Amino acid sequence: MFSSIKWKFVLVYFLLVFIAMAIVGVFIIDRLQEQQISNITNNMEQYIVTLESSSSYIASDNWLENREEIQGYLDEWRIGATESLYVIYDEEVPTIIASTSKRNVNIIGQNALSYKYTNPELILDAFQGEPGDAAIKELNEDRTNKHFVYPVISETGKVRGVLYMTSDLSDVFNTVNESKVILTNATILALSITVLLGFLISSSITVPIRDVTKKAEKMAKGDFDQSVEVKSNDEIGQLASMFNYLTLKLKSTINDMDLERSKLDTIFKYMAEGVIAVDKDNNLIHANLVAMDILNLKEQNIGNSFDLKDINLGNIDYQNQEDLEGSEIIGMGDEFYKVKHAPFKNEEGGISGLIIVFQDITNEHKLDNIRKEFVANVSHELKTPITTIKSYTETLIDSELDRELSERFLGVIDSECDRMARLVRDLLQLSNLDYQKTKWKKADISLEDTIKDSIIKLDLSFKEKNQKINLNIEENLPKITVDKDGIEQVILNLLSNANKYTESNGEIDINCHLEDENAVITIKDNGIGISEVDQKRIFERFYRVEKGRSRELGGTGLGLSIAKEIVDAHNGNLNLSSRLNEGTKVSIELPINRV
Ligand SMILES: Nc1ncnc2c1ncn2[C@@H]1O[C@H](COP(=O)(O)OP(=O)(O)OP(=O)(O)O)[C@@H](O)[C@H]1O
Ligand SMILES: [Mg+2]
Repeated sequence: MFSSIKWKFVLVYFLLVFIAMAIVGVFIIDRLQEQQISNITNNMEQYIVTLESSSSYIASDNWLENREEIQGYLDEWRIGATESLYVIYDEEVPTIIASTSKRNVNIIGQNALSYKYTNPELILDAFQGEPGDAAIKELNEDRTNKHFVYPVISETGKVRGVLYMTSDLSDVFNTVNESKVILTNATILALSITVLLGFLISSSITVPIRDVTKKAEKMAKGDFDQSVEVKSNDEIGQLASMFNYLTLKLKSTINDMDLERSKLDTIFKYMAEGVIAVDKDNNLIHANLVAMDILNLKEQNIGNSFDLKDINLGNIDYQNQEDLEGSEIIGMGDEFYKVKHAPFKNEEGGISGLIIVFQDITNEHKLDNIRKEFVANVSHELKTPITTIKSYTETLIDSELDRELSERFLGVIDSECDRMARLVRDLLQLSNLDYQKTKWKKADISLEDTIKDSIIKLDLSFKEKNQKINLNIEENLPKITVDKDGIEQVILNLLSNANKYTESNGEIDINCHLEDENAVITIKDNGIGISEVDQKRIFERFYRVEKGRSRELGGTGLGLSIAKEIVDAHNGNLNLSSRLNEGTKVSIELPINRV
């Protein structure tokens, strides 16, 4: 409680007034006492001088003879009740020869030096001609008397005798004591007023300070809606208005910071890349949703240790600046990520940990692989016929073959050339489709006619394998606006696939009907079918389930990819469903585009 500024203030005020009153009191009382005693001394002197001058007996030299007269004179003399006068004459020893004291009638004739109420030193000094005075506490009595001695000097300069007067100082001390009581009361009153005033004044300072402190405390807890009342224009008022200004400034700065942070949070949360932060002890400090998804992390993992080995960063040395910044590519299951890392610093500028960014490059990686595979495939596809042509040509050149064999060899060379030409044509077509260079000649065509034309073109192949064609075309199909050659190429490829990958005596169902706003052509066979794994890749360029078999059948593995590109260019869909050893169903959906 006393640590409060209020109580310190009150205490200082109290002590100040107390000390001031004590000093003033001591001085006043001292002065008063001195004054009173001095007055009494003066009165005593006055009294004695008057006595000396008014009594002829005292003025005469022979005091001893006039002793009774002097006593008589003293008896008539009016003296205060608390005062006594002794006339002392030196008969061998100083002797009291007359007195006003009624205390003891036997004092006349007593040795003044041994009398209880006189002081021998003062008497001896007086007989030497020295007047004197002293305040003396009477022995065994609770009373102090003022003693005054006056030597009466004769005309010859001899000390005739001594007039000794005492006066009780009790009244003086009573007055002084009363004054002390008054002063003490005044001091108590002054101190009470001081405490009260001190309390009020210090409250006027401490209450606003306490208010500011309380509100500052609330601010420290995050509640910035604080303002204090400005009651005056003094320093306290200025403190209050400064506090209000500070609050407003702080609030707006914190709002700005919150806004910035929320922006950063949103960016952090919704950015396409995964981001994590780990400290130097490899504890995970932060991870955005994408990173949590990539690394299979949960909320509980944040704050716990994270193994950098999992992302190929296990060898990072925090002392080596070169180690801290860099990027590498890691694979996680089917996904590939470019992992970039850089250090972040603490307030002192030291390294605090690492920020690691995961950029999903699975597609790029896949495309890169596809590109590499594609080049390898093209090279391979070209190499085979070239090797064949080369070896047959060499044989033809080197050996003398009969005409029949030569013709057979030339036939092989011709068919390998056709194969290469077909491959180059397909690749060119794919390239045109990729770069959208294909010029579509769209026109209204009858799907029924196109399907029937395609069947006729492959009729020989179907017949060769004795395959049964079940054609089912919905009546009154509307015409459809497409590129006839393109769509025919798609149908031909699908029919040719059905023919190639269905055993002899198999059945091929060809359907065409309207479904919503689409014309749907389905080609279904009961051939060898395609496994689920292969179905996923079936539209990839050069992908063939059984490379050897397909090549034997003259296929390059580009047919389905071209078909898909053509259908896509017509805003349609090409779907394939198949069961191994049961058969395959491929459907082409083409929008009708009614005007
Ligand atoms: N109806 C089907 N039944 C079983 N397998 C099929 C069928 N259609 C396609 N396939 C498989 O899919 C692969 C790719 O077919 P795609 O038409 O693209 O190539 P291809 O027929 O081998 O050659 P191309 O069509 O270029 O002459 C084929 O090699 C074959 O393995
Ligand atoms: Mg094909």
